[in-house]
Amino acid sequence: MQKKNIDWANLSFGYQPTDFRFEARWKDGKWDEGKLTDNPNIELSEAACVFHYAQCCFEGLKAYETEKGEIVTFRPEENGKRMFNTAKRLEMPSFPVEKFVKAVEDVVRANAAWVPPHGTGATLYIRPVMIGSGPQIGVAPAHEFIFRIFVMPVGSYFKGAVKPIKLKVAEYDRAAPHGTGNIKAGLNYAMSLYPTMEAHREGYAENVYLDPATRTFVEETGGTNIMFVDKEGTIVIPSSPSILPSITRRSLVEVARDILGYKVEERPVRFDEIKDMQEMAVIGTAAVLAPVGMVHSKDGDIYLPTGMDKIGPVSAKLRETLTGIQMGDIEDVKGWVHKI
Ligand code: PLP
Ligand code: COI
Repeated sequence: MQKKNIDWANLSFGYQPTDFRFEARWKDGKWDEGKLTDNPNIELSEAACVFHYAQCCFEGLKAYETEKGEIVTFRPEENGKRMFNTAKRLEMPSFPVEKFVKAVEDVVRANAAWVPPHGTGATLYIRPVMIGSGPQIGVAPAHEFIFRIFVMPVGSYFKGAVKPIKLKVAEYDRAAPHGTGNIKAGLNYAMSLYPTMEAHREGYAENVYLDPATRTFVEETGGTNIMFVDKEGTIVIPSSPSILPSITRRSLVEVARDILGYKVEERPVRFDEIKDMQEMAVIGTAAVLAPVGMVHSKDGDIYLPTGMDKIGPVSAKLRETLTGIQMGDIEDVKGWVHKI
């Protein structure tokens, strides 16, 4: 198979239509079989529920080429399960997990020429999305839905990949207590657009959101969970009912504890603990693991001891081990790698 002629090493994280996408439609109370299509556009009623009441959700996962030239994805059933739960919370029809995984396989296989070659640093980002497509003017769920999976080759989410980033503590909340912070609803991201752009305008890569009830605990950023390494070398990961249950985070916890032998604590982390941490990183599918060098808040700037030039040693080890497993360079003892 002839790969596309792309400058793989210099890709950014951006949309690019590829050859095929999967589409299934929900109508009259059931999903159709779904099929691959080459049409990147969707035509919708002006009254489609998604336009007015934001009835939409999405997922994000990646495909990789191994050194042997096989194409693999990472724990796709976990994304399928999370989307299943997200859909329920949004009164959308859940897409069956086995069909989700099969559709991921079909789309990636159909776009094999777009999967970045092993060793280029680029990956194929897979974006499943579901929208309330039926017309709906009274506030109620749609009666018709569209589920799509499309893919695109991407480079790193944050410029420089492992160059430490600066974060800003947001003055805004991303998720309400008992709200939708723990699901992957499009509306959560709409809420974060203004604070994100404000942070960018001020020179920060992203926001850190604090817990909306007390504003004393660290939650997550607009598109990642967070991890720390404390002075004892323990990996400390903030937990909260209003953050997204990240698959990267759950995988890193197991990598750290079971494969690398670190002590790991998942617990609420107070904002005022950051000044005593050794390392900090943001973690997620798009971001992978990106080191944080500084956190700005209205009370001042906190610099992590690892500085603004390089990733800390524990973060580096974790990143290298997780990506090694994902790309087939390190033995997959957990059975996470899913061959296409
Ligand atoms: N938190 C938010 C708000 C996200 O958008 C993401 C990205 O999916 C994550 C965390 C990381 O989750 P995952 O590791 O499953 O990609
Ligand atoms: C992902 O990591 O897949 C996400 O969905 C995060 C998004 C902000 C790009």
